[in-house]
Amino acid sequence: MTSQLLPSRTVTRSTDETIALGRALAETLRAGDVVLLVGPMGAGKTYFAKGVVAGMGASDEDDVASPAYDIVHQFPGRETVHHYDLFRLQTLSGDDVEWLMESLMEPGVHVLEWGDRLDGVLRKPHTRVTITAGEGDERIIAIEAAA
Ligand SMILES: Nc1ncnc2c1ncn2[C@@H]1O[C@H](COP(=O)(O)OP(=O)(O)O)[C@@H](O)[C@H]1O
Ligand SMILES: [Mg+2]
Repeated sequence: MTSQLLPSRTVTRSTDETIALGRALAETLRAGDVVLLVGPMGAGKTYFAKGVVAGMGASDEDDVASPAYDIVHQFPGRETVHHYDLFRLQTLSGDDVEWLMESLMEPGVHVLEWGDRLDGVLRKPHTRVTITAGEGDERIIAIEAAA
């Protein structure tokens, strides 16, 4: 993955700007890539994921919501986007880890909200997107390569 997005730090001031940044990242993604979205509730992880999904030509971005009942949703596109929300997996059981690692082997790109739940578990280079809130609608979005 080569991109001027890595590493980068961008301040967005609207959901549209956050979606646009997700779209820009999507252009750099290749089959097998894993993107961890990290930040508190309401940070903008789902909006960023909408951008990735839309940028992969995978679906209308309006279809993307935090998968509330399932852990993962798939969106067929240039590459299938697997969109996860690990919120409910507060602590990962051995079975959870086994299932997740298997799922991450599926063809396509993998975008995980609450991706820091995989810290210390994921043994694969990935992209880490950390979102923190600034003033009002500002979101500071750091994108970096992680091992
Ligand atoms: N710059 C911004 N980028 C993304 N979301 C923003 C921004 N400014 C305000 N918001 C609001 O923050 C919330 C982000 O929601 P969401 O993406 O679902 O968060 P998360 O998935 O991290 O819990 C939405 O209510 C959205 O309208
Ligand atoms: Mg969300």
